[in-house]
Order: sequence, then structure tokens, then C-alpha cells
Amino acid sequence: KKSVDDINVSGQRVLCRCDFNVPLKDGKITDENRLVAALPTIKKLIADGGRVILCSHLGKPKGEPKPELSLAPVAVRLSELLGQEVKFAADDEVVGANARAAVEAMKDGEVVLLQNTRYRAEETKNGEALSKELASLADVFVNDAFGTAHRAHCSNVGVAECLKAEGKPAVVGYLMQKEIDFLGKAVENPVRPFVAILGGAKVADKLNVINNLLEKCDTLIIGGGMAYTFLKAQGFEIGTSLCDDSKLDYCKEMLAKAEKLGKKILLPVDSVTVKSFPNPIDAEVDSEVHANEDMPSDQLAGDIGPKTAELYANEVKAAKTVVWNGPMGVFENPTLSKGTLKVAEVLADADATTIIGGGDSAAAVNQMGFGPKMSHISTGGGASLEFLEGKALPGVVAADEK
Ligand code: 3PG
Repeated sequence: KKSVDDINVSGQRVLCRCDFNVPLKDGKITDENRLVAALPTIKKLIADGGRVILCSHLGKPKGEPKPELSLAPVAVRLSELLGQEVKFAADDEVVGANARAAVEAMKDGEVVLLQNTRYRAEETKNGEALSKELASLADVFVNDAFGTAHRAHCSNVGVAECLKAEGKPAVVGYLMQKEIDFLGKAVENPVRPFVAILGGAKVADKLNVINNLLEKCDTLIIGGGMAYTFLKAQGFEIGTSLCDDSKLDYCKEMLAKAEKLGKKILLPVDSVTVKSFPNPIDAEVDSEVHANEDMPSDQLAGDIGPKTAELYANEVKAAKTVVWNGPMGVFENPTLSKGTLKVAEVLADADATTIIGGGDSAAAVNQMGFGPKMSHISTGGGASLEFLEGKALPGVVAADEK
């Protein structure tokens, strides 16, 4: 894909789509990883003398201008991170009088942030009017919003199409490029052995990821709630553990596929069990450890057990590429976080390219302090999953080819 390195933005109005969809609590940003990850592209555009117009969605206001989903706190924090003013053009209609006046008055190297693009209902429908309005502000489009790349919305796809129709460039930023490089190389051209670790609650959320990664990897490790549907499919008693009964046949199919392809699927051999799901999630709980063969009928698995953690750790130690998506248990609870912690620890020390899919596993790794020891932590939740499913992401497809 064409990137910011392939164009000259000096004196140009550059519309840069970022994913500033960050968690907020009482108007404060509680995790600024996505802002920090966007800085290299923004700094490059500033240094090259572009007039940098930033835009993003935040949450799901569904076309209603909701003050609690205003991007105002992002403008404040970005100004601090960049060491220069990010002027907030707060139009409820996104492209309104404030935005037009701010862009009109811009000098080279200055930065403006537009209001939450989802204040307009048509944003998520990839409507023509908003796409055109956004395009009218810009000479060049840069898409650096990997986290949103699985959506085809006005601010990442429609606007690119409008500008391209006028013969103007639509390129990707450094973050987008880095994400595609890491995830793409891991899946399409991995240094082997390639181990994929999947976790999380539901098999149903990962059907296509399991199927696609099974074809690409050497070993597929499965933990978290979804493992218990697989164990039940193998005939084990799983007590009151999470189980997606409608997916039992799917699990059998995947186990058979692995055998046919000569791939290994690793499942828990033991589990940390509790009487009921902790409520609140971090509440103190009494736990036991049980092998698959003696799972009590009135308990549920909250984490992989110590033997399983060891088994998984040994597999990771021998790997050269590891992709991890989804926690091994209820990692928010101290009693049920050890499996996830162990996997994070071995990944941090592994002599391998280690890639963490976004969402819960990225949160777990960062929370446990292992972030800097991973090769790459994706800023995309849904986007990294769809990438791992082997799907083309509309936000990436819309950018110019080199
Ligand atoms: C995300 O947080 O995964 C992205 O910002 C996309 O947000 P969405 O799921 O609301 O489209």
C-alpha cells in the first residue's frame, strides 16, 4: 500500500483518520495506547509541513451528539503529547462552520481535530453526503485507523473513494502499516514453528479465526471459556463451565481437520474451578484444581490449571512466531488470572516474534506490565480478529496501491 512516505504533504490539507476510540471515565482517558500509537504519523505530517486535520469516532453515539462522547478530552491530551496545540473544531454535524473556519485558517504544520464522526448517523452507513463533506476539507487522505479498518464507514472508506475519484491520494499511515506488516507476516509467511493461542469466552466469536489459523499455524493452543466446548466435544464432563452446545459439531470438525492436516490442537488437561462465576468479577473466590477426568458436576472452570499452563508454556518456548488472542481465564480475578499471567510471562521471554491481538489480551498484557516485551500489540480488537480470519479489511482495501 502507498504510505505517508510516498507522498509530499507540504502545504497540503491532510485529512488523517485515526482510531481515537479510547476508554473514558468521568471525562478522563483511562488507556491512551491508541493516542500514543497514532503519534508517529501525526508528527511526520507536521514535520513535513502538512495542515493536519484529524478525525475519529468515539463510542457509539448512533447519530446523536452526546456530550460524554465528545472528542474534547482527546484534543487536550493530544496537545500535551505533541507539545503543540490541537485545535478542537467542535461541530455537532462534524463538518460544520467551526471545522471549515478552522481549516481555512490553518498554517502549515498546524493540527485541527474534528468532532466525533459518529455524531452523524450516516457515518456508519458510509453515506455520500458526509463522505463528500469530509473530502471537501482535504487534498490528501491518510488512514491510520487500524482499529476501525474492519468497518466501511464515511470517515475511512467513503472519503477515500471521493478523494480518489478526484485524482487525490489516499494512503496509509505508519500505525496501519506496522499492524499490517506484523499481522500479515505472522499469518502468511511466519518463521516456524508458528503457535497460535486463542482464548476468550465463546467459540462462536472465533469460528473463522480457529478455522483460518488452524490452516496457517503448526500448533493451535486453546484456553479460556471456549476450551470447554471443545472438551465436551471430546466427551469430557465439564461441570457447569461455559459451553456453546450449538458449536459442538463445529469443534469436532476442527479436531478432525487438525488431525487431517497433521496440526496439533492443545486443550486444557486441568482447570482451576469455582462454584460460581465471580460477582463482582474481582471478588474473592474459593477455587480448586481438577484434571479433566475428575471435573465436579457442580463447578465451572475459571482458568486453565497449572499442568495446562506448563504444557502451553513449553509449546511457546519452542516457537518462533506466536500470535495470541483472548485470555486463558477470568484474568480480571486474582485467583483466576494465573493461566493468563503464565502465558504472558513466557511470551515476554520467548525467543520469537510475539504478536498480541487487541482487546482483552492486549489489556491483560499491558495490565501485567509485559507490553514493552512483546514484538507487537495490536491496537485493533475486532479489526485484528477479522485480519486473523483472513478477511480483507475495507479500510485497508480503500488505500492506494503502490
Ligand atoms: C474498536 O474499538 O474496536 C474500534 O474502534 C471500532 O469500534 P466499533 O466496534 O464501535 O466499530
